[in-house]
Amino acid sequence: MEPLGATTVFLAVCVSCLLFLSAWRKMSGSGKLPPGPVAFPIIGNTLQLNTRNLPQSIHELSAKYGPVFTIYLGSLRVVVLYGQEAVKEALIDQADEFSGRGKLPLADKLIKGEGIIFSNGERWKQLRRFALTTLRNFGMGKKSIEERIQEEARFLVERLRNTHERPFDLTLPLTHAVSNIICSIVFGDRFDYEDQKFLTIINLTEENNELFRSLLGQLYNFFPTLMDYIPGPHQLLIKNSEELKRFVLEKVKMHKESLDLSCPRDFIDAFLIKMEQERQNSQSEFNTDNLVRSTLDLFFAGTGTSSTTLRYALLILLKYPEIEEKVHEEIDRVIGRSRSPCMADRSQMPYTDAVIHEIQRFINLVPLNVPHAVTRDTHFRQYVIPKGTTIFPALQSVLGDSREFPKPEQFNPGHFLDENGAFRKSDFFIPFSAAIRHIAGQGLSWVDGA
Ligand code: HEM
Repeated sequence: MEPLGATTVFLAVCVSCLLFLSAWRKMSGSGKLPPGPVAFPIIGNTLQLNTRNLPQSIHELSAKYGPVFTIYLGSLRVVVLYGQEAVKEALIDQADEFSGRGKLPLADKLIKGEGIIFSNGERWKQLRRFALTTLRNFGMGKKSIEERIQEEARFLVERLRNTHERPFDLTLPLTHAVSNIICSIVFGDRFDYEDQKFLTIINLTEENNELFRSLLGQLYNFFPTLMDYIPGPHQLLIKNSEELKRFVLEKVKMHKESLDLSCPRDFIDAFLIKMEQERQNSQSEFNTDNLVRSTLDLFFAGTGTSSTTLRYALLILLKYPEIEEKVHEEIDRVIGRSRSPCMADRSQMPYTDAVIHEIQRFINLVPLNVPHAVTRDTHFRQYVIPKGTTIFPALQSVLGDSREFPKPEQFNPGHFLDENGAFRKSDFFIPFSAAIRHIAGQGLSWVDGA
């Protein structure tokens, strides 16, 4: 580059830095945006953050800037809420304002605001309400959801027995079992573990989950325009997504051909019936695109989370044999060995309940939550957060609060037991998040959030 050109570029960069800094300072004064580290144009705070371990960087920043602070991921402004008080005040006391879903450029590109997880406004309200009632409807189809879980658990145990006490990797059997429960609910039936189509959808879902969390996936969220021109794994995400959509569309077509309006067999049937009922309603969000996306959302949100939790649970029990022994004793005493466990057993099993809660607290699976956004200009404490700003309600800061969980870095089921050994609920137990964006699949997970 010729010297004059280089000088001009240098000056332009300096001026824009200064303009950005002064705008940033102005906005972070009292009554304005929450404070935070100085951000640079385009790259924001990316260089100051460890993108491979964002939760750790955010933990460190909270020590400096307190419970409410602003960071920039590329040019994306994010307000972080750190600690039980800030998270509760936002998600519960100002639930409506904080109920938006934060923008993730990669999700926008793939999902285009359809379905439940990444939608907003009226669409989100309608689809979420529908999913919650349908998943709660334990009488859907011939079997209740509990029976579907018990059925899959039996298949899983059989598969584990067939390993004949030889070493094996649990990852796939757990993923297949969890995914099959979701299949049973959305498609009406489970798949054989060897079924090629089943294995393909699981591989595609898992691969997309991985790519979404990968470094390149994260960089896409920080620098979407640039990344669009770079070939790489994020392009594979789009291809996989299209294939998953085709699979669900095929299932929807088969369901339509055998639909009985008076007898929904599964989630897809229930959605098709809703589409039929709302045919005259021009504001209805019940259409094929949202059906396909909501179905995929249940896989995307439910499979990785639940199977990873189960895998960690087993690893933790291996590490603490004395805890495993107590759980085993309670299982033998309350359930015995001749029948499947059921939800009604739970109230008789305080120790196991506490262990499961502690596993979820300890593994801190979604440390920063799925990003939220404020739905309008929002007064929060002494700050004003502009409409649409992305919010990270840091669940890790609540699950690891030492006022509620003494020595939070240690695994201790006592965190959820009182002095008499009875199960103790905690308002700080929020691995599924809190309030109205609180997950739709909670009833399907191990615990219902206490
Ligand atoms: C251990 C298991 C799970 C954990 C830790 C977990 C955690 C979470 C978290 C933290 C969120 C974000 C909530 C928010 O935005 O405030 C979420 C959302 C969601 N989860 Fe789960 N989840 C689990 C299992 C499941 C299952 C089994 C399903 C369904 C089959 C499911 C379906 C959903 C859906 C649909 C959403 C989006 C809710 C919305 O945006 O309104 N999750 N989950």
